[in-house]
Amino acid sequence: MLDTFSADTIKHVSYARHTGEAFKSVITPQDFTDASSEIMSWERYTATPLHPLKSLAQQLNLDNIFYKDEGPRFGLGSFKALGGAYAAARVLQRELYNKFNKKISLSDLRSGKYVSLTKAITLVSATDGNHGRSLAWGAQKFGADCKIYIHAEVSEERAKAMRYFGADVIRIDGDYDDSVRITKTNAEENNWFIVSDTSWDNYIQPPTDVMAGYGVMTNEITQELSPPPSHVFLQGGVGGLAASVCAALRQKWEKASPRVIIVEPDLASCLYASAVKDTLTSVQITEETIMAGLSCGEPSPLAWNILREEASDFLSIPDLFIAPAMKLLAKPIGNDPAIEAGESAVAGLAAIITVAQDTALRNDFRIDKTSRVLLIGSEGATDRALYDKIISG
Ligand SMILES: Cc1ncc(COP(=O)(O)O)c(C=O)c1O
Repeated sequence: MLDTFSADTIKHVSYARHTGEAFKSVITPQDFTDASSEIMSWERYTATPLHPLKSLAQQLNLDNIFYKDEGPRFGLGSFKALGGAYAAARVLQRELYNKFNKKISLSDLRSGKYVSLTKAITLVSATDGNHGRSLAWGAQKFGADCKIYIHAEVSEERAKAMRYFGADVIRIDGDYDDSVRITKTNAEENNWFIVSDTSWDNYIQPPTDVMAGYGVMTNEITQELSPPPSHVFLQGGVGGLAASVCAALRQKWEKASPRVIIVEPDLASCLYASAVKDTLTSVQITEETIMAGLSCGEPSPLAWNILREEASDFLSIPDLFIAPAMKLLAKPIGNDPAIEAGESAVAGLAAIITVAQDTALRNDFRIDKTSRVLLIGSEGATDRALYDKIISG
């Protein structure tokens, strides 16, 4: 089965990192602390599991692989639960301050004390599923109205999951980047508040809050994992997940932080393209990747500011790696635990399997039998029907 992961089908560029302190200036340690103390007080908060995949690691001649399984996160199916919902709360808090000059605590907002004010506020975002689900959940929790724009290829199951939390879900023609553009236009015309996981010119606070929210996950990892891993493979959509994780790892472990490798679908490799050109670069999406959460053609500038200083390698992988990687987790090797992982969750796993089996890439990445590799299993089966089809195929 591991033969599927052939190095001939991936693209790799090693990157001459810039030096700087974006890891602590773009998302500050205080940003991470504030987000963690709020999110960890939410009902049903519990740390997600960090599974060692020792048997697979042995087969790949590595010391260990650690898989952070975000499937159970708040019952929402992905790490995105941490970002959109938290940013929603912060947007409402700021808006109430701007309007009424009143500093309201997030716990008061959550308690429903100000619902007569918050229900007049509409939060809006584009999404390929997981971020919108988090925002819809957060809007409901904090008492605001919510509109979500989805593109043509987002599955009905994912749309249903957002409606479940009371969001008005609107499907547009076009891809994810088109849905972002339509969201911006409609928000401006209607005075809605965008809560996006990606940033653009003069729009940085909500995406910073989103990335700060993801820090809860990294914090759980750094508390559990000692010594630090040698490598972390991070999947990229707009780059927010990867930037948040590597910033938090650097803040915690400084020089002992792992080597950062970014992994994208070859059908949507905007961070790879940015690394090749050494500047923020967009790509045209001509075909949707099966890794729906990673189908982004425009990187987040905020995220890129961190990645250009922290990431040593950028990889792109083909869609054909995804089903075998999901099956490998569902029916694991040796004593490894069985894990339900969605399409976007396994990009990092597919990449390490590919790299570990290729002598030249092992050398390039300084991977050997002592390597301890961290992976972020960013989602569980967020589209059940699709998951079942892939696993039984
Ligand atoms: C499951 C999953 N993994 C990874 C990502 C990538 O995150 P980002 O767009 O912040 O790079 C997403 C984004 O939606 C996602 O849904």
